[in-house]
Amino acid sequence: MSEMKVVNKNSKAYQAWLSYEKLSDSYLKEYNELLSNISVYGKTNLNASIKEEINRALAKFLSADFELNFNQQLQNKILIAAGKELKEIAADNEKLDSLLKSIDFAELNDEGYLIKYFKEEDLLLLTAKSDQGLLYGNFELLREIQQENNLEQLDLLSNPKNNLRMLNHWDNLDGSIERGYAGKSIFYQDNHLVNDLNRIKDYARMLASIGINALSINNVNVSYEETRLIDDKIEMVITIADILRDYGITTYLSANYASPMQLSSIDTADPLDEKVRLWWKEKAAEIYEQIPDFGGFVVKADSEGRPGPFTYGRSHADGANMLAEALEPYGGLLIWRCFVYNCQQDWRDKKTDRARAAYDNFKDLDGEFKENVLLQIKNGPMDFQVREPVAPLFGAMPKTNQVLELQVTQEYTGQQKDLCYLIPQWKKITDFDTYAEGENTPVKRIVDGSLYNQSNTGFAAVVNVGNDQNWTGHHLAQANLYGYGRLAWNSDLSAVEITEEWIKITFGLDQEVMESLLRMLLYSWSIYEDYTSPLGIGWMVNPDHHYGVNVNGYEYSRWGTYHRADHEGIGVDRSLATGTGYAGQYFEENAEKYETIENCPDELLLFFHHVPYTHELDTGKTVIQHIYDSHFRGVAAVKELQGHWEKLEGKVDETIYKNVKNRLEMQLENAVEWRDQVNTYFHRISGIDDQYDRKIY
Ligand code: GCU
Repeated sequence: MSEMKVVNKNSKAYQAWLSYEKLSDSYLKEYNELLSNISVYGKTNLNASIKEEINRALAKFLSADFELNFNQQLQNKILIAAGKELKEIAADNEKLDSLLKSIDFAELNDEGYLIKYFKEEDLLLLTAKSDQGLLYGNFELLREIQQENNLEQLDLLSNPKNNLRMLNHWDNLDGSIERGYAGKSIFYQDNHLVNDLNRIKDYARMLASIGINALSINNVNVSYEETRLIDDKIEMVITIADILRDYGITTYLSANYASPMQLSSIDTADPLDEKVRLWWKEKAAEIYEQIPDFGGFVVKADSEGRPGPFTYGRSHADGANMLAEALEPYGGLLIWRCFVYNCQQDWRDKKTDRARAAYDNFKDLDGEFKENVLLQIKNGPMDFQVREPVAPLFGAMPKTNQVLELQVTQEYTGQQKDLCYLIPQWKKITDFDTYAEGENTPVKRIVDGSLYNQSNTGFAAVVNVGNDQNWTGHHLAQANLYGYGRLAWNSDLSAVEITEEWIKITFGLDQEVMESLLRMLLYSWSIYEDYTSPLGIGWMVNPDHHYGVNVNGYEYSRWGTYHRADHEGIGVDRSLATGTGYAGQYFEENAEKYETIENCPDELLLFFHHVPYTHELDTGKTVIQHIYDSHFRGVAAVKELQGHWEKLEGKVDETIYKNVKNRLEMQLENAVEWRDQVNTYFHRISGIDDQYDRKIY
């Protein structure tokens, strides 16, 4: 039996951005009356979640006992009700009735909300078409209040841009988490559910507050025990789904493609075999009987040793459609991952290119997938490296539903020991112009469905939480989770907007805290990149666990992950003219940009080209000097991060202060090791000295 972990649920670390701090006296003076007169209408479980959250928040905001006074609309100052309830109340309230007429519900989608202050009536209204929209709007309203924004100026209509706003758990039933850096699973322990189901509810609150509406609750590498989740262990799923549902979150499972072979006497998983097809149909019926709003499956097939349709000489469309057909009668979705590549490569082979794999495997299948199949595509062609180009598959399959897959868990970006705030990276990805339909067709317009008029599209990401007190190991890694949700809701938000909001609702309104944290967070990705692998090359990490430097860790491996450094130069030639041809997978404008050394942006130069160490970058520096400079700069910047944080001692919660201080110390050690090993390696191999004669070993 694993040990029970004791967490202090009253701590700010645990409560994350929902800790709801007392409002300032001046703000309270202004809004006390408004805030003390809130009414929430509706009797569903979602409504109950809203009420509970308001009670919790207001008691803290006002620092007083607070009880909602239900259904006394005449005294309402803040009124929270979905359209249907509003109409009922308005039927015998003239004032409300005329006000209602000014609202155009057609502007709202099913999950959107409207928050608006009506001056004449002195009424702040939160409404939506559905209770789910109301739930999201309620969290937004609480955010507005916590940030002490002017409530009388509120006039906010918000619809989520993406229909699917999903997080993927890579949790195993024994409680371990693949690529988890914040303790054990919050769901499972020793092949059972954890005892503390309340923690799952708190997690659901956090997710709902940032608009997440879908959760897959087990690892994409589905082993024996996890395969049983659709069988004799389904009770576990039912329990979790019951908790998540009250927060508008739909439960999905990662499915083992070969499930019929484990769970029945059928000896094949061939998607065209009638027995197999029937088995899945009956299985789906069984699941939906018990979980009528079950979301569907996420599937990793024919990837890194997982079973899939290739075994039977069938295509990914055959495989996906077979499962989709089983889910279809119930409105279920089949999310099929495009992370399919040859993981048995010979490093001597310079023609095979892992980067090409997703496009090569899927592009030609455009139009062959059923409507309820969604292809989930990792942001880059390799695997969540600190810097990669955007995967060329985005926009290349106009007749196919596409989902962007990001990695919130920091597998290759410091494992929540090092600070690496990823929103700036994700913004670059979502704003990347694919040119799929000419200029201005960014990734975000493809995955939000607007470009090709699709509705089964959106965002998915591997989540970064575990059962550590602060959920994410590094407290500041909470910002990655927060930012992911906000970006999935509205991919047009800027990194600064998201970051400021998170800082305010997590740490309060102190200007110095804001400035320090903004700087720390917004630069942390480029700092991390500086002291790790340069110019888009990636992979110089320790094999297996992927933390820390190892320049040749993946150089002679079977994983298709090479830097090809020799004494003259470094980089992988992926041009069409002389390399693997990967650059040619992009639409013309991008293909041209990446094809030549002259046009390729420096930040991705080594991803696309093999160049001499003496090659001059746009900055005027040589590649080798860039390597030295960025690594010295990276370490210096980590010391600056420490300085910024130390200034905040006494201004932020002590537990959080210590947590981050401690992590920054680990980060510095890691950065120094990276700097010295990378610089030493390239100094030795190139024989070229650092222009500034700094210490290289
Ligand atoms: C990476 C990661 C694996 C994971 C895989 C995936 O390779 O290291 O742990 O299973 O991605 O996304 O499926």
